[in-house]
Amino acid sequence: MSERETEEREQEEERGSTEGHEQDSDGDTGEYEHHGETRDHGGDDGDAIEFIDVKKSFGANTILNGLSLGIPENQISMILGPSGTGKSVCINHMVGLLYPDEGDVLVHGESVPQMADDELFAMRKKFGVLFQDGALFGSMNVFDNVAFPLRQHTDKGEDEVGDIVNKRLKEVGLAAAGTRMPNELSGGMRKRAGFARALVLDPDIVLFDEPDSGLDPVRTALLCELIMEIHEENGGAYVVITHDIMSARRVAEYIAILWKGKIVESGPADELFNSANQFVRQFLAGEAQGPLGME
Ligand SMILES: Nc1ncnc2c1ncn2[C@@H]1O[C@H](COP(=O)(O)OP(=O)(O)O)[C@@H](O)[C@H]1O
Ligand SMILES: [Mg+2]
Repeated sequence: MSERETEEREQEEERGSTEGHEQDSDGDTGEYEHHGETRDHGGDDGDAIEFIDVKKSFGANTILNGLSLGIPENQISMILGPSGTGKSVCINHMVGLLYPDEGDVLVHGESVPQMADDELFAMRKKFGVLFQDGALFGSMNVFDNVAFPLRQHTDKGEDEVGDIVNKRLKEVGLAAAGTRMPNELSGGMRKRAGFARALVLDPDIVLFDEPDSGLDPVRTALLCELIMEIHEENGGAYVVITHDIMSARRVAEYIAILWKGKIVESGPADELFNSANQFVRQFLAGEAQGPLGME
């Protein structure tokens, strides 16, 4: 990708949201079936991350209600679900920012809730995370933002740090933007800077929380392309969380659909797009008719 977005002026779109919908307290599954205990994701490399019957409530609000899911190694996986279903809550469980009330979360086969602080710290270095809006430090320029994890977590000298940062900035099309401050960047550029920062420690697993939110369709398509290019180049397990079906069609190799605290269905993308499950069909087609209603 080049500097094609450098001159853009972007209208940040208000994100359409039905955030905060109520969860059925009895875990009623309605007309469709939840499953997810057994997975056949077609990869030979095992799972990078596993959720085993995870339950998580905040007060009376049950968010995850027996969620089981495997995230395959070396593929781009997408967790799809309507806003407010607990997708970000899932991400927070993967990196040990939240712990399950019941069940377990494994990263490369190791239980995250059972890790001691130093193990958790080491485990987090496996992850690169692109939070919504890039989550850049507003007081640092782009170069320093991207250099931050290297300066924090490694004892590399400034020459090496500079080489790595410049390589990553170039990869995401921000080679000339190193001295700019976050508030001088468009939304798309901020996300790309966040992406560069997520990659500098050569993570085994990269998490993207709604990378497409607030971007217009063209910027979303460009970002999807970039995610695929960089995955191709670097490998690893990529987990993209989104409610955007178009993004899923573009980049997902593996898809899991989250609804009412469980995975309704998960599998290779082509299977999900041909699912017989009414809910999955409705959600992936973006249709108004079906089991998914306004709640
Ligand atoms: N730390 C928290 N404390 C209380 N409620 C939370 C917390 N984190 C998330 N929630 C609630 O969990 C639900 C799912 O949130 P979230 O995972 O952010 O949804 P999304 O699928 O849009 O990412 C929301 O109703 C949210 O209010
Ligand atoms: Mg979220």
